[in-house]
Amino acid sequence: MELREIKGLPDYSDIIELINAEWPPESEWGEKTEDEKVGEMIRSHNLKTDTVKYLFEDNRVIGFYRYTRWPRENPDPHKAHTLDIAILPSMQKQGLGGRLMADMIEDCRHKGFQQLLSRSMRNNRGSIKLHQSSGFTVYMETEDSIVWELNPQLQSFSAIRFGKLNPNPGK
Ligand SMILES: CC(C)(COP(=O)(O)OP(=O)(O)OC[C@H]1O[C@@H](n2cnc3c(N)ncnc32)[C@H](O)[C@@H]1OP(=O)(O)O)[C@@H](O)C(=O)NCCC(=O)NCCS
Repeated sequence: MELREIKGLPDYSDIIELINAEWPPESEWGEKTEDEKVGEMIRSHNLKTDTVKYLFEDNRVIGFYRYTRWPRENPDPHKAHTLDIAILPSMQKQGLGGRLMADMIEDCRHKGFQQLLSRSMRNNRGSIKLHQSSGFTVYMETEDSIVWELNPQLQSFSAIRFGKLNPNPGK
């Protein structure tokens, strides 16, 4: 398994299964066609602010994440926000989401971010659990969502977790 940063505009149609996992039929964009979802991903991609990594197993993409400097209109050099994180449904609950999140936190730590914000919808138990076990705390709550925060500079836990889940870091 290998995490690879995607430079330039990712070909989001390659990861439509993951985008579908993020937007199930009952969600905000669940009604959109696959072409429309890919269009939204491309439209919302900002080459100046976004970092994207794909998780490969052999030559198949089984997970991905994207985060951005934040706020996107007027980015603060110290703040970041998750935009996407997903694992193929057949491969969830095996620690892979935790591995992606640990890598995102580590990437933010290296780049000097002091706050990583993220959001879970209240009906998304997997996302809530993932943020809790990755060390996020509640920043604010809205009627339908929880906004999380974490300081990547103070998060030695993420490195430990990453080490645990990646016993052969050079490979
Ligand atoms: C959220 C998501 C990325 C988590 O990935 P994952 O590979 O299943 O996560 P992990 O296996 O590392 O699990 C992390 C924790 O969440 C728990 N968890 C994962 N899915 C769960 C679910 N559906 N219900 C309850 N708990 C769940 C795990 O048991 C684990 O808990 P632990 O750390 O206490 O052991 C994955 O469920 C997913 O791709 N969902 C669809 C896309 C999505 O909703 N993304 C989040 C947008 S904010």
